[in-house]
Amino acid sequence: MKTQLLSESQFSQAAEIIRGGGLLGIPTETVYGLGADGLNPVAVRAIFQAKGRPQDNPLILHIPEASWLERYCEDIPDTAYRLAGRFWPGPLTMVLRCKKRTSQELEELKNGPVCSCTHFGPRVIPDVVTAGLDTVGMRCPAHPLCRGVIRLAQTPVAAPSGNTSGRPSPTTARHMLEDMEGKIPAILDGGPCTVGVESTIIDLTCDPPRLLRPGGITLEQLREVLGEVAVDPAVTRKMGEGEKPRAPGMKYRHYAPKAPVTAIKGEAAQSAAYILNRLSHTRWDGVICFEEFLPLFAEEEGPILSLGPAGDKGEQARRLFDALRAMDRTDVKRIWAQCPDDGGIGLAVSNRLNKAAGFHIIQI
Ligand code: TXA
Ligand code: MG
Repeated sequence: MKTQLLSESQFSQAAEIIRGGGLLGIPTETVYGLGADGLNPVAVRAIFQAKGRPQDNPLILHIPEASWLERYCEDIPDTAYRLAGRFWPGPLTMVLRCKKRTSQELEELKNGPVCSCTHFGPRVIPDVVTAGLDTVGMRCPAHPLCRGVIRLAQTPVAAPSGNTSGRPSPTTARHMLEDMEGKIPAILDGGPCTVGVESTIIDLTCDPPRLLRPGGITLEQLREVLGEVAVDPAVTRKMGEGEKPRAPGMKYRHYAPKAPVTAIKGEAAQSAAYILNRLSHTRWDGVICFEEFLPLFAEEEGPILSLGPAGDKGEQARRLFDALRAMDRTDVKRIWAQCPDDGGIGLAVSNRLNKAAGFHIIQI
């Protein structure tokens, strides 16, 4: 199969692919997604296949506006509407209770016409989307092309990040092509992602609400609206044997380039000096550093990539996955990376870097 790159003007063709049960590379403001009709279990199963994703890792469902929540969720707390009012459309995923089918709906389903994509599960959303959980992650993306496609297709779009499982998430259509060429019919090119790390995931089915994954909406912003917010331990440390993070995906190795990564956290000039002292001064060492420190590494033979200015965590978020992917196009054997502190979107950058490093992080 040849993977077609669709331009903005071809977005109705993109919606047709979703309607027809196909897979689409879809732009969002966070990262590119691998989308399919979220109510069609056959289409959703193909997502897992194309990505090589474990079946026990649920997908999130993308909707074009908050009013669609009631179609797929129940017992929706008031906090969900407050968060939606403040941050949607935008990089926030809310975990809510899935809507159950009534006995009458189940009866009608049994007696009505069926096709290969009819799902008979007890909930409105097929089990393959939620990995059988009774909760679902709901997200209303800010990218206008993405919302346009969902509206035109008139169905919620299930989409994980569009990378092959384990690789850094794609933040451009080209990244997505690197991973999905020949595996999916098309990628809709919506330009480079403006956030660059995946959405924040907040679980609203527990009290207090719990941050499962840091992302484009910061913990500080969530606390402004919700007051107390718990932080799942999987956000900041490696899960031990037998420990189960609430977001199943957080247990998997992720975002990892081929060479092992060491992340250095601490005052920026000190972490740069720490890295410089440990380099082998051969082409086998790659460095991802803050913009200001590029001159410090000017004599090095290996690739030296900028993560953006030390004080601009938004730029760091936009550049991180591209830098990790760029390292994979070289033959480095070790990667050293400067890591920002946990304030603001720094928590998301630091979480992704730590996961890329297998939590091999040095605090100085
Ligand atoms: O920004 C994003 O969220 C991107 C774009 C494409 O929207 N999507 C994305 O999806 O990052 P994915 O599948 O790569 O990550 C979703 C995470 C996984 O770690 C998964 O385990 C978790 O969300 N998740 C999904 N449903 C859940 C649920 N019901 N309860 C807890 N965690 C859930
Ligand atoms: Mg992902």
